Amino acid sequence: MAPSLASSCSLVRATLVILTTVGCLSCLPSPSSGMGLPRPQPNLNFTIGVEGVVWCKGCRYRGYVESRDASPLRNASALLRCRRGHRALSVWNTTNTHGYFRIETGAQAAPFTSSNCKVYVPRSPARRCRVAVRPAWKKGSPLRFRRFVTLPGGLQGRYSAGSFTFAPQDSSKC
Ligand SMILES: *[C@@H]1O[C@H](CO)[C@@H](O)[C@H](O)[C@H]1NC(C)=O
Ligand SMILES: *[C@@H]1O[C@H](CO)[C@@H](O)[C@H](O)[C@H]1NC(C)=O
Ligand SMILES: *[C@@H]1O[C@H](CO)[C@@H](O)[C@H](O)[C@H]1NC(C)=O
Repeated sequence: MAPSLASSCSLVRATLVILTTVGCLSCLPSPSSGMGLPRPQPNLNFTIGVEGVVWCKGCRYRGYVESRDASPLRNASALLRCRRGHRALSVWNTTNTHGYFRIETGAQAAPFTSSNCKVYVPRSPARRCRVAVRPAWKKGSPLRFRRFVTLPGGLQGRYSAGSFTFAPQDSSKC
């Protein structure tokens, strides 16, 4: 539970999360490797990395996945938007051929917690597949904590924003 509440800026909370995680790992009979968690430091803070995938439901485009009846949409713009008081942060990125995006912040995320942030895919890049199904128009997706990763620049909290699904207005016209 603690990691899902993890914030990007609360030093106390961040340190507690790390301690808790390390504590749990050392209790497990076969701890998963590769976490590379550093020792907690008084000035510990971490940046945000959030991932998601953008789909077109019901159209057979390149990369169509039968089990989902959906095709990945590439070159879709995704926005991480954080607000807290008068502060706001916007970071964009685009999807690759698998419909996958990852938005990473730097130290500018320090004033925000993950609960201050949402991810939006404001429009579909596919002319014939542009009705927002999930989340609905203008509704962002919250960030769900996945894990910590250690990067050269420091610790990053990795979150998922889940799937963003568009559909054609008329399924006979993909
Ligand atoms: C957080 O980390 C950034 C660099 O990664 C640093 O510039 C900033 O001072 C740190 N903030 C605190 C409160 O330690
Ligand atoms: C990606 O989308 C932008 C507009 O959002 C467009 O200008 C660009 O040509 C597109 N690139 C590809 C490879 O489709
Ligand atoms: C955008 O995505 C690319 C590929 O995943 C990544 O290397 C880059 O750091 C991302 N940029 C931002 C601002 O998140």
